[in-house]
Amino acid sequence: MTDRSETETVAFDVIDGIAWVRFNRPEKRNCMSPKLNRQMMRVLDELEYRDDVGVLVLSGEGTAWSAGMDLKEYFRENEAKGLGATRGAQREAYGWWRRLRWYHKPTIAMINGWCFGGGYGPLFGCDLAFAAEEATFGLSEINWGILPGGGASKVIVELTGFRRAMYHAMMGENIDGKTAAEWGLVNEAVPLATLRDRVEQVAKVLLEKNPVALKATKDAIRRVREMTYDNAEDYLIRAQEAANFFDNDGRKQGIKQFIDDKTYKPGLGAYDKSKQNV
Ligand code: COA
Repeated sequence: MTDRSETETVAFDVIDGIAWVRFNRPEKRNCMSPKLNRQMMRVLDELEYRDDVGVLVLSGEGTAWSAGMDLKEYFRENEAKGLGATRGAQREAYGWWRRLRWYHKPTIAMINGWCFGGGYGPLFGCDLAFAAEEATFGLSEINWGILPGGGASKVIVELTGFRRAMYHAMMGENIDGKTAAEWGLVNEAVPLATLRDRVEQVAKVLLEKNPVALKATKDAIRRVREMTYDNAEDYLIRAQEAANFFDNDGRKQGIKQFIDDKTYKPGLGAYDKSKQNV
């Protein structure tokens, strides 16, 4: 297939609480075209508040996770149309990555293959990331003559630190999944053959947790990174009090089932949320 319709650029299935969303332009190594960016936003919209979705996993069809931005359809064709088109395409791409960063459900990047340049935006957008050891990561922008934009420079320095970020961005040298895990770009690297099983295992653990607490937790971890200690302390008080508004029974059940019922130990696993009043 050479020219996919917009809706065909993203595929997904929802199975047992997990939305498996896939970049779906394998013949173009899942590079992000304006069509794909628009469709991804629609899919994220559709899945975000569905009751049958507890966790979202983002992976790619074929040999790539995503080969970054589409050099032809995203860069060249928009540049030819003028600044308005370029800015519009940027808004579409950055828009769904931002959406992912603050998504209502926990998100996991499952990096099954090539991950380049603009791909670092959605990589950072996901809360957790698991890579195939065989995957390849690179900031290839320097190899074709631009800086790592679309947040990629920010992502690499945030996740890996100054020296590694400089080397990675300036040299245009790739790293494999194992190195990406050592550097902190992903949580873990496992053989490609076991990647989906490992991600499913993690997703199932998340499905057992209190969803209000998960959303509050993921937002807190992202927000406090840029706060002073005092501001973070204050934000966390307010954020927990706001979470209590959405779920006032969860933490009480959590305490009751441990202290009174003695049915679980919080140090060793989650309380039984089926017993709480929703
Ligand atoms: N933009 C536009 N087209 C892309 C693309 C991208 N980022 N990445 C891959 N493609 C296209 C190729 O042009 C090719 O199209 P064609 O079949 O019409 O010739 C097709 O996808 C397959 O790519 P190919 O290079 O043959 O696959 P490969 O498996 O041999 O190599 C990569 C895979 C990822 C190493 C290589 O495609 C590549 O270097 N892509 C660009 C990566 C990049 O610099 N991204 C950063 C953008 S910010």
